[in-house]
Amino acid sequence: MITVLGASGRTGRHVVRLLAARGHTVRAGVRSYQRLPVVAGLGGSPVVADLAADPAELVDVLVGCDVVVNCAGAADPAPEAVNLIDRDGAIAAIRSAEAASVRRYLQLSAMFADAPDQGDRTVRSFLYAKQVSDTVLRRSSLVWTVIRLATLTDDPGTGRVSAAAHLIGPGRIAREDAAAVVLGCLTEPRTDNRGFDVRAGSTAVAAALAALD
Ligand SMILES: NC(=O)c1ccc[n+]([C@@H]2O[C@H](COP(=O)([O-])OP(=O)(O)OC[C@H]3O[C@@H](n4cnc5c(N)ncnc54)[C@H](OP(=O)(O)O)[C@@H]3O)[C@@H](O)[C@H]2O)c1
Repeated sequence: MITVLGASGRTGRHVVRLLAARGHTVRAGVRSYQRLPVVAGLGGSPVVADLAADPAELVDVLVGCDVVVNCAGAADPAPEAVNLIDRDGAIAAIRSAEAASVRRYLQLSAMFADAPDQGDRTVRSFLYAKQVSDTVLRRSSLVWTVIRLATLTDDPGTGRVSAAAHLIGPGRIAREDAAAVVLGCLTEPRTDNRGFDVRAGSTAVAAALAALD
């Protein structure tokens, strides 16, 4: 079973729909009961999973789950907001996954989160928040993958990306393609215990992941 956190988000919805369509049993985690209708009909079972709530509740949600995909993110780039969700909330989810004996954990991160000083000044707090939670995940007991996404768009997916430990310069990627990367990671052992940058490109997702150095 796979639990998707932030399932009501623009990328989260693609991830739930794609994983369910490929036969995975999916739990669609949303931050409150009010958000449950947003994930209805995507193919996952809705569940409340608030990254800012009592971590003990998150542990209960994640018990029995093999894989967690964290697609959650703050709506607001203000430091208080990103520190609450992208740093502390993400860390709480990682710790809860460990406590619930989850095996594999995929985190949606951002290009330049591993070197925030080189990223866009206007999103630096966000990059620092991601850097901290990505580091906690890397040092956790989980089989981890940090997917450092370029700027997300709602363009239709192409099924083709460029992925590498580090890509030069910024870029964009369709949320639909980001979801295809999540799916691809589940069957590509080269993505175990690895972080990588990904943006739109010309290589089919599976081939791009298989070629990670
Ligand atoms: N936007 C970009 O260009 C960009 C670039 C690189 C990486 N990323 C990362 O990629 C991921 C997906 O981005 P996106 O733009 O598709 O996301 P999005 O549409 O903004 O969705 C964010 C999701 O996080 C959820 N969330 C917020 N607070 C939460 C909480 N306390 N507990 C649980 N869930 C919570 C939201 O719930 P509600 O629906 O209830 O608000 C929503 O489902 C995020 O991790 C983001 O940081 C984004």
